[in-house]
Amino acid sequence: MTLPTFKTLLVDLDDHGILTLTLNRPDKLNALNAEVLNELDQAISWVETETSVKGVLLTGSGEKAFVAGADIAEFTTLDRSSGERLSKKGQDILMRIEQSTCPWVAAVNGFALGGGAELAMACHLRIGASNAVFGLPEVSLGLIPGYGGTQRLPLLIGRSKAMELILTGRQMKAEEALQCGLLHALAEEGKLLETAEQLLLNVLKKAPIAVRHAVQAILHSGEETGYPREASLFGDLCQTDDFKEGIEAFLQKRKPEFKGN
Ligand code: COA
Repeated sequence: MTLPTFKTLLVDLDDHGILTLTLNRPDKLNALNAEVLNELDQAISWVETETSVKGVLLTGSGEKAFVAGADIAEFTTLDRSSGERLSKKGQDILMRIEQSTCPWVAAVNGFALGGGAELAMACHLRIGASNAVFGLPEVSLGLIPGYGGTQRLPLLIGRSKAMELILTGRQMKAEEALQCGLLHALAEEGKLLETAEQLLLNVLKKAPIAVRHAVQAILHSGEETGYPREASLFGDLCQTDDFKEGIEAFLQKRKPEFKGN
């Protein structure tokens, strides 16, 4: 199997099936321009078809930034319809990450601002370096977050705090992001990727279809159909071989060997 190559993304696949995707425009703090968005979209399509990829670790190149936002230089020509189109495109790509059949973990090294914070929020889990900084500064530019930030932030940290952060554009440091649940853990100095990878490996040890179904159930929490969907997904899992293996392994006091079917 050959890995795809990109101009703005570095790609590496390890023996565990963990694909490390590194956004690679360090001179522009990995800002999301059209090319990065398109390549990210292509990378997601590849992940979804390549069965050897079990999980994705997303990070940014350099020590300063995960992603410092959408590329502001590309905003100069935006008008009503192209603005809406851009927002919809960003939303769709980030939605594909959230809906991915693989778990995605963001390893947040430095600034995660605007589209960068939105990208990290679309991942299922987030680990931060001690210099991680989150912020949705769009109102300072006369805009609002447009890649799902107004929707995901309130769901992740509550409407009240999301309102404060978005209306003031205030930047939040790593400790505060951890405290409010936006980050799941802080990595020790120099151990960001290692810590993110360990978290992903813990998920990959579990039954893959159960993990996928858990994501789907959680993504629909709070909706009218949330409970019936949970029951339906639970029922689906009862038909899987991994469910039988999980139960047998427990009763036989051994570790389960999940095969993903
Ligand atoms: N879009 C386009 N270019 C960006 C960018 C963005 N979102 N964020 C940073 N860059 C570019 C800078 O223009 C600069 O390019 P240059 O060297 O060609 O001038 C380079 O990245 C380095 O950034 P710089 O501002 O010099 O670094 P800094 O350490 O002084 O400040 C930030 C870092 C993150 C505080 C600052 O870059 C910033 O505020 N960026 C914009 C954040 C933002 O508003 N994001 C939301 C966009 S909707």
